[in-house]
Amino acid sequence: MANVFENCLNYGGALHVPVITIDGPTASGKGTVAQRVARHLGFHLLDSGALYRLVALAGLRGGVALDDEASLAKLAAALPCRFSGTAVFLDGEDVSDTIRAEDVGKASSRVAALPAVREALVERQLRFCQQPGLVADGRDMGTVIFPDADLKVFLTASVEARAGRRYKQLIDKGFSANILDLRKDLEERDARDSQRAAAPLKPAPDAYLLDTSDLTIEEGVKQVLEWYRAAKA
Ligand code: DC
Repeated sequence: MANVFENCLNYGGALHVPVITIDGPTASGKGTVAQRVARHLGFHLLDSGALYRLVALAGLRGGVALDDEASLAKLAAALPCRFSGTAVFLDGEDVSDTIRAEDVGKASSRVAALPAVREALVERQLRFCQQPGLVADGRDMGTVIFPDADLKVFLTASVEARAGRRYKQLIDKGFSANILDLRKDLEERDARDSQRAAAPLKPAPDAYLLDTSDLTIEEGVKQVLEWYRAAKA
């Protein structure tokens, strides 16, 4: 894993490809902030969580046990997926909403703890590093996948704020939800994502921390863009 960023440069060509990493816990707002920052700068977007969700969905559909590391890694390496804007396709089927369901989210947190699955997804993530630049959203973007990123941001928000946001997202998508169950699931998922041995959720030492509990999305986006401009100056 030592030379992953060199690979990134290879994919991007000889010229430096600017990379902004946005890591943080589930429902911290990083997905929306990352999308808007990417749109604003005209950069590509990597939603790395979607890859783990796709592996989980493919595993659930294929009847693969969520602790069968070798089979899940095989699935991950050959994942027939495609991204188009914010839409995600698995085997040609639009699964953009399906992968956001709570059962897939929980399963994705389990498959993401398996080192062989993470390793199988590295190459695919590096391929997103293309001119004119990349905004990469996840848990280990700044620590493992793009350690030399131009700007690293770690978004946080209180568990109350995050449970409220996740509740709204699910209801808006037509799923049923219970806020207390959501909060419990978030806490369990945070614990699993931060305590796992492989690429745990933690800020890179050189990441800027941004607590979005009391910020609007626009305020979060503005702050990230300001940091990026300052980093490039
Ligand atoms: O960001 P998200 O909720 O869509 O991510 C789904 C799961 O994938 C989450 O439980 C943590 C895991 N994940 C990860 O381990 N590393 C990443 N870079 C992105 C997500």
